Amino acid sequence: MSAAHPAGSFEVIVEAVTPLTAHVSAFRLRAVNGRALPGYRAGAHVRVQVRTPQGEDWRAYSLVNLAPHTQAQTAPDHYLLAVRREDRGAGGSLHMHTQVRAGDTLRITAPVNAFALDEQDNAVLIAGGIGITPIASMASALLAQRRKFALHYTGRAKAQLAFAGELRALCNEALHLYGDDEQSELDRFDLARLLDTLEPAQPIYVCGPQGLIDATIALATARGWPRERIRSELFAAGAPQDSDTAFEVECRQSNVTLRVAPAQSILDAMLDAGLDPLYDCKRGECGVCQVGVIEGEVDHRDYCLSESEKRAGKVMHVCVSRSRAARLVIDA
Ligand code: FES
Repeated sequence: MSAAHPAGSFEVIVEAVTPLTAHVSAFRLRAVNGRALPGYRAGAHVRVQVRTPQGEDWRAYSLVNLAPHTQAQTAPDHYLLAVRREDRGAGGSLHMHTQVRAGDTLRITAPVNAFALDEQDNAVLIAGGIGITPIASMASALLAQRRKFALHYTGRAKAQLAFAGELRALCNEALHLYGDDEQSELDRFDLARLLDTLEPAQPIYVCGPQGLIDATIALATARGWPRERIRSELFAAGAPQDSDTAFEVECRQSNVTLRVAPAQSILDAMLDAGLDPLYDCKRGECGVCQVGVIEGEVDHRDYCLSESEKRAGKVMHVCVSRSRAARLVIDA
């Protein structure tokens, strides 16, 4: 998928833009022809075409469903997105916050689900900040199925947690809200304390910043959780690491060798060079950008390969993973 219109994208009307907190606004979208939109399941996202300083681009936003008994899966009459404004980001959220108004038309893709929910009992839902968007839909789906679950939702300040009121009404005692600025330590999220109260058989779904996801995977697997019982979705691309260095990547099929800068992904280097690789999430989650590795050692940073697949080093995800050495050869 590139900045050109992806196959199957379509236009929708922005029915309403509603500020939820100081930094988060909700966007309610409906079909141009007033008919039902494509259905989706909890955890799904759409991609929205935005304008950034670098040009037209696409951003993934989860679909929020706060009504357990609506037709979301079959024929929703609207989509609800929530976008956090990131002034220091790459511009997609700024476009949504400063340019998109009620009555405007947006181009979006059909829903895709890379963060699917198994509707079973005792799921533990963990959301950090705007990571609540897919998690709120999961809570709705579990309520619709009369499943037992717990939702732990944390952010910098309780008063700035988007959808907190709606979730309180929906989830009752299944909802636990936390704020980093709270006086009582019980009101501040403590992941280790939470995991100590759970059983490793309980499925965990976590969405939020990379630190929260990495900590959940590390602490839960150390306590005996099978890795496949922990599902995650980042709400932003993983940040480059200070230790990242430049390297060369040879794309064998395309017969080009590219230099990947320290703060650049292999995928972006390929796009900048005019190649047309497949990709979707750009966060190491969907698996769409997977390529074969012909030579070299990969620094795997994705959330879709198993530990044994990472050790085997036969494939990699070029949106996030890098080379451990000066040169890598990939089947692309
Ligand atoms: S684009 Fe989704 S894993 Fe790379």
